[in-house]
Amino acid sequence: MTVVLALASPAETERLGRAVGERLRPGDVVVLSGPLGAGKTVLARGIGHGLGVRGPVTSPTFVIAREHPPLPGGRGVPLVHVDAYRLGGRAELDDLDLDTDLLTAAVVVEWGEGLAELLAEEHLLIRLRRPSDDDDGDRRVAQLCGPARLIPEPACLAVP
Ligand SMILES: Nc1ncnc2c1ncn2[C@@H]1O[C@H](COP(=O)(O)OP(=O)(O)OP(=O)(O)O)[C@@H](O)[C@H]1O
Ligand SMILES: [Mg+2]
Repeated sequence: MTVVLALASPAETERLGRAVGERLRPGDVVVLSGPLGAGKTVLARGIGHGLGVRGPVTSPTFVIAREHPPLPGGRGVPLVHVDAYRLGGRAELDDLDLDTDLLTAAVVVEWGEGLAELLAEEHLLIRLRRPSDDDDGDRRVAQLCGPARLIPEPACLAVP
């Protein structure tokens, strides 16, 4: 299923991430795509909040993958956050042994489109973009493609 959402601010992007994180189970893969500064890490941070893992979820500068353990009171599912920007290809992805992580964790891969799909038969792809090329404000558009169980109801995203 495919859903397209308008996101008016970083807070809305984070809220979308949180709603996705609340749905993830061990073995789930989320692929985040979109240009530099699209908000992939903001979304990953929200996913971390939704899962209830130890933060902070930031752009990993020196490592390609970082594991965030579950916090008491969270969902009990660790988050492995991967930044595939500098990843050379399939062999380097295999070296990360993410399939072992996937036995217990949910894996979120920034810049993973075209690669991270290999990790799981079923995955959620979230593409982020600005509404238009000349829009340098806070608005973003998110396109979510994947199994319905991983796609939040619009009501989950409403501002309380
Ligand atoms: N609606 C929005 N959603 C997410 N981020 C937004 C939004 N509006 C503005 N921003 C800003 O855009 C920046 C997005 O940064 P972020 O690191 O999440 O992007 P990224 O896609 O991970 O970039 P990179 O490709 O470098 O990894 C942040 O500074 C954030 O505050
Ligand atoms: Mg990032």
